[in-house]
Amino acid sequence: MLRPLLALALTGHSATATPHKPITLSSTGGFQTGGRTISAPFNPNLTLSCDHGYMEYFLPAHPRKTSLVMWHSSSTQVWQNTWSGGPGFKDLFLRRDYPVYLWDGPRVGRANWACEPTAYTPAYTDTSNFVAWNFGPRYKQWWDDVRFPTDDDAAWAQATSARYVEYDTRANVELHARAAATAADSGRAGRHIVYLTNSAGGLRAQLAAALASSTNIKGIVAYESIGYVYPDNINVTAGKGGFGPYVVPVEAFERLARVPGIQFVWGDHRAENYSFVAESRRVAGLINRLGGNARVVKLGEVGVRGATHIPFADLHNEDVADLLDGFLEDNGLDGYADGDEDDEGGEEEVE
Ligand SMILES: *[C@@H]1O[C@H](CO)[C@@H](O)[C@H](O)[C@H]1NC(C)=O
Ligand SMILES: *[C@@H]1O[C@H](CO)[C@@H](O)[C@H](O)[C@H]1NC(C)=O
Ligand SMILES: *[C@@H]1O[C@H](CO)[C@@H](O)[C@H](O)[C@H]1NC(C)=O
Repeated sequence: MLRPLLALALTGHSATATPHKPITLSSTGGFQTGGRTISAPFNPNLTLSCDHGYMEYFLPAHPRKTSLVMWHSSSTQVWQNTWSGGPGFKDLFLRRDYPVYLWDGPRVGRANWACEPTAYTPAYTDTSNFVAWNFGPRYKQWWDDVRFPTDDDAAWAQATSARYVEYDTRANVELHARAAATAADSGRAGRHIVYLTNSAGGLRAQLAAALASSTNIKGIVAYESIGYVYPDNINVTAGKGGFGPYVVPVEAFERLARVPGIQFVWGDHRAENYSFVAESRRVAGLINRLGGNARVVKLGEVGVRGATHIPFADLHNEDVADLLDGFLEDNGLDGYADGDEDDEGGEEEVE
């Protein structure tokens, strides 16, 4: 029996460039969270349970205490692999023994059972994706140092097609934030949660922390957050669309400020005068003025060059992962669930 299994294992590994330490899990699964049940207007006996979010989970055999909830803007795929198909943050952090949760907010991905009619209109966005995701200044004009396999057309096809409908409306931001706050408060994703977000997910996670009634949200690391939450006592005018500014009562903003660690991360191809970079600095300042712990990190300033809008999916994403390791350590979020100092079989420290 041993021989064929071993052969199979070796064959499997030879398909990838580098062999990896196997990932040992105790269980995997998923659940719905949040949402509501509505009655049919024509017959209250007929109901629909809808507008929940969906969590898929992967629990390491020897878990650390902190759950990493990977919150996409366009699809869970960005957390699963790099642009070239290498290990994404999901595998990198499972190998580091963190429980990993992949989150689909209400109406997107595997939570598309909506309480209201939804519509999808094809919008021919391949060219605008290219610029929005900061692969380069113009379609197919790559940044010189971009961390993308630029000569691999199949990789580009994978990147631009791996999307869900996003519904970037104010109502949808609120719907997602409420479901994520419910998820955090339920304890079903653990009592130490770090939301890792990309793009439009950043605003939703800030709002989730402002809405949550528990203290289970221990961190937010927002990669290129497009949209910010503000308190209602500083004369910021709320935006009408899905990218903020989103204004909440001061007490709600104080709950966001009490999240033990918040990081707004930007790639080096984002100018300091890009409006959302400026907003991230302003909001980090507001949070810190309330005694919070928010920081803006420009990847170029910590030696990470060529980042796209989705830096955790970039080639050589290990250095972006190292930055997250530092954040988790600095905030005391890297301990093991059973109190162990470290795992003897764990990843070697880089640096
Ligand atoms: C709903 O259910 C109740 C109790 O079974 C029944 O009396 C009522 O007629 C039902 N209503 C409709 C519209 O079917
Ligand atoms: C608040 O903003 C409005 C509109 O920009 C402005 O007219 C008003 O003077 C501001 N108030 C304060 C107290 O800054
Ligand atoms: C940002 O600064 C650059 C040069 O420093 C300038 O060319 C550009 O127009 C500015 N962008 C905005 C949005 O102000």
